[in-house]
Amino acid sequence: MKQVQRIGVSLETELLSEFDELVAEQGYHNRSEAIRDLIRNRLTAEQLAHPDTRAVAAVFVVYDHHRPQLAQKLIRLQHSHLLKTISSMHLHLDHHNCLEVILLRGKVGDITKLGDNIVSLKGVKLGRVNLITAAE
Ligand code: NI
Repeated sequence: MKQVQRIGVSLETELLSEFDELVAEQGYHNRSEAIRDLIRNRLTAEQLAHPDTRAVAAVFVVYDHHRPQLAQKLIRLQHSHLLKTISSMHLHLDHHNCLEVILLRGKVGDITKLGDNIVSLKGVKLGRVNLITAAE
């Protein structure tokens, strides 16, 4: 088990009460859990700022499948980046629209570029690239 250290933190009363509201809203059992998550998120954001960090990206795209060529382009992009593409999921949202979630793994710089290429394909209505670090 990892060694744990106790630290004391001084906060203004108002800031602390706002934080306590957040802790309760999010369902944390105590402040320590919430503070640990905040610190981890901040450190992770720092790591993701470096292009060589190993990461996983979830790329969300919504598009009209009647749009000529777009589905083929999406598939072609994934096939030409086989090592970076882990998996994809397709959901038929309605008569026209499809949601595709594509999981990519690799260096932040590479998968961000690939994710941006996917999202910026002509005909994509909504797109987003979400990154998370792949290792502790
Ligand atoms: Ni579909």
